[in-house]
Amino acid sequence: MDGSLFVLLLLSGLFWNSSALYRPYHYINTAMSWPEAQSYCRERFTDLATVDSMDDVNRLLNVVDAGYSGSVWIGLKNGTQKRWVWSNGENTISQNYNFASGQPNGDGDCAAIYYGVWHDAPCHLNHYFLCYGNSGYILVQSRKTWSDAQSYCRQHYTDLPTIHNFTENNQINNKINQLILSGYYIWIGLFVDSWGWSDQWDLTFRHWVEGQSSLSSGTGNCAGMSRSNSGRWSQYSCNLQKPFICYGDGMRKQIVRLKVTCKGKCALNDHSLQTAILNEISEKLKNMRLESDSKISWRKGEDGEVFHQENNHMLDAEREL
Ligand SMILES: *[C@@H]1O[C@H](CO)[C@@H](O)[C@H](O)[C@H]1NC(C)=O
Ligand SMILES: *[C@@H]1O[C@H](CO)[C@@H](O)[C@H](O)[C@H]1NC(C)=O
Repeated sequence: MDGSLFVLLLLSGLFWNSSALYRPYHYINTAMSWPEAQSYCRERFTDLATVDSMDDVNRLLNVVDAGYSGSVWIGLKNGTQKRWVWSNGENTISQNYNFASGQPNGDGDCAAIYYGVWHDAPCHLNHYFLCYGNSGYILVQSRKTWSDAQSYCRQHYTDLPTIHNFTENNQINNKINQLILSGYYIWIGLFVDSWGWSDQWDLTFRHWVEGQSSLSSGTGNCAGMSRSNSGRWSQYSCNLQKPFICYGDGMRKQIVRLKVTCKGKCALNDHSLQTAILNEISEKLKNMRLESDSKISWRKGEDGEVFHQENNHMLDAEREL
């Protein structure tokens, strides 16, 4: 590369917030089996869609063609080891679990609080339940199955509660004691799950159709979202052919204008020089640990050239020398 070439990189324009969970979704209107859809998404985007919240569910609903009322594949597959997880998807450490001694004893896949400690219980039983929202914990004195309670909380508040530590468990107990309900089973946000995201994402938000749960048996090992049922998920055989939703890339594309100053003669539209500059940028991205999931290329103008002379008399003059 010409030693007199100075590349001014405005790298700040290349940044995106890697902790933001906003995933651009792409609806692919071609029916494929779940494994085929997974390969397709991994080749062209990042992966099949991962979903973390009701906001994501609503965004998914918006990308599916309005005319299509069937179900579409998302990136959720059964077969992960069974484990207790939280309804709002949070991944908290298990040593905070506050099961009563001898619990969970295997008599159900949902958790309720009872005299201040947790018990597993059959999810289809009707119990009072807690929700959390902006104003804290709410004890709902209406008996529902665990999944109906979850729907109710998501509709009216935020979700069933995640209990992070003993302080929060005590706050909840105080609320229960005030209402003299300690002797009742009261659902909290904990349930058993055996599903996992295609991209290995470890949050566990789920949005099953009424009556289905993470452990419903025999219906299939891949999850499809139904557009006609407010974006709720059902379990299907993975061989079925369905349209699907990928996430990734698209919206993350950033176009950065590069200003290059060169002293003396330099042929910026020379292909090997352009490749050399790209390599240099790539090297910089690698140092910033952004390289692994980024691809860079030149964007050509209407005339088919990458670089265009700035309207600057001095440069023009130099060029004529
Ligand atoms: C889902 O996976 C779990 C754990 O591997 C297994 O026990 C369960 O039977 C599977 N469910 C279905 C519907 O195959
Ligand atoms: C309990 O967890 C909540 C939520 O993560 C946190 O804000 C709070 O500080 C924790 N309290 C204690 C005593 O650890």
